[in-house]
Amino acid sequence: MAHTIVIFGASGDLTSRKLIPALYRLHLRDRLPPNTKVVGVARSQFSDDGWREQLAATTAKFVGGEFDTDAWQKFAQSVHYCPGDIQSAEDFQTLGMRLSELENGRSAERVYYVATMPQLYERAAAQLGQAGLADDSQGARRIVIEKPFGTDLATARQLNQSICQVFREDQVYRIDHYLGKETVQNIMVLRFGNSIFEPLWNRSYIEHVQITVAEEVVVGRRGAYYDGSGVLRDMFQNHLLQLMMVTAMEGPVKFNADSVRDEKVKVLRAVRPLVGADFESCGIRGQYDGYKQEEGVDPHSQTETFAALKLHIDNWRWKDVPFYLRSGKALSCRTTQIVIDFREPPHLLFGEGRSSTPQANRLVIQIQPAEGIQIHFQSKVPDQEMSMRQSQLDFRFDAGGAMPDAYQRLLQDALQGDASLFARSDEVELAWEIIDPIIAAWRGDQAPAMHGYPLGGWGPTESTEWMHQQNRAWFDVCPVIH
Ligand code: BG6
Repeated sequence: MAHTIVIFGASGDLTSRKLIPALYRLHLRDRLPPNTKVVGVARSQFSDDGWREQLAATTAKFVGGEFDTDAWQKFAQSVHYCPGDIQSAEDFQTLGMRLSELENGRSAERVYYVATMPQLYERAAAQLGQAGLADDSQGARRIVIEKPFGTDLATARQLNQSICQVFREDQVYRIDHYLGKETVQNIMVLRFGNSIFEPLWNRSYIEHVQITVAEEVVVGRRGAYYDGSGVLRDMFQNHLLQLMMVTAMEGPVKFNADSVRDEKVKVLRAVRPLVGADFESCGIRGQYDGYKQEEGVDPHSQTETFAALKLHIDNWRWKDVPFYLRSGKALSCRTTQIVIDFREPPHLLFGEGRSSTPQANRLVIQIQPAEGIQIHFQSKVPDQEMSMRQSQLDFRFDAGGAMPDAYQRLLQDALQGDASLFARSDEVELAWEIIDPIIAAWRGDQAPAMHGYPLGGWGPTESTEWMHQQNRAWFDVCPVIH
């Protein structure tokens, strides 16, 4: 059956930077379903050729050496443009006719990718419904919704309800591009494709877990958006909680959308609710020096650009094992890593007295830009009685060639109807249920102090002290990329 992917927001940055390059790469690798058409929709007036020409330039820029003029020409023949306004019912009628024409009036599977401004998501779904374009009697109809999915629990619920008036849940694909990253999927393979890690993956052996998503960039031109959002909405509600779910979930019965998402959702359900004084003691908030002077940012802004949170997952596996989640802009390097800190050996034979924290075993899962896994363990210093030193086993994930971009995998899955790596409605709402009260408390009269921090470090010094007070230490290491 033929496939059509319709991109709303076709003149936007995401389309040229991510979506078209990902589709082009899938074409290069022969991974698009046969007879796949791409139809862009936006208000700008373009002809098919005009849009193709513009995309040729942007795609060449974003795929670099992978751009091949002949391959592009072939791919471009399946790329079309249909001017349209999300607000206009008439434009959706026109779109419907154009799609039938391109599909030669035959059955086809369609993916509607909504990459517009978030304020238009509901409208886009409603218009598709009214124009009869969600009717799947002539082939599957799926809708992909970009992030952010709501700005709090109430707006996420409202968005879910509106979309579900038109599409069934199994037709809705909510993007979190972190799930499209190969290294994130590899966490599941590491845990459930091996037998040596899983027996240790619990409160008996793990002392705590750290999930860090550090960014070197400042907010730059996104100041106006970011100031209304802050790091908790921008990074925690989605990406960090997704990483936590994948790290903490039980093994699903099967690797299919519902089994995987059932297990992920159970993790969120088990997160211990924060109450009263917890909001102050559960984390650290910070704002980088100079943030208030960024374009589009309120000069009196109380928006955090850094946050560290301590969460507990109250179930048999994780009871009393803290999960530390940390993310911020303007930090020392770009690195996303999950650190599993194991307990110290119960009885120490070597070295003086009790070993210090760095001597415990550690598994470091590097998500990006370094992609790999390290095991830190103690070994004997040769020729020095029984002294120990920290040693490392290193696995590099990308040894086999270039890693695909997350959007490649996600688009391919959406076209094939596999929703395993997309968020389900209950998952998104539960994530907001965790983050909303923290945002409210951090905005209210009882808000904990906002700590400043200089660019290029690991956030406020209070964050380091906070960990030390708990007899723990952040793993503040910028990975070396070979
Ligand atoms: C986006 C956030 O969702 O993720 C950005 O809005 C952030 O603020 C980006 O920079 C990080 O994504 P990645 O894939 O570069 O880690």
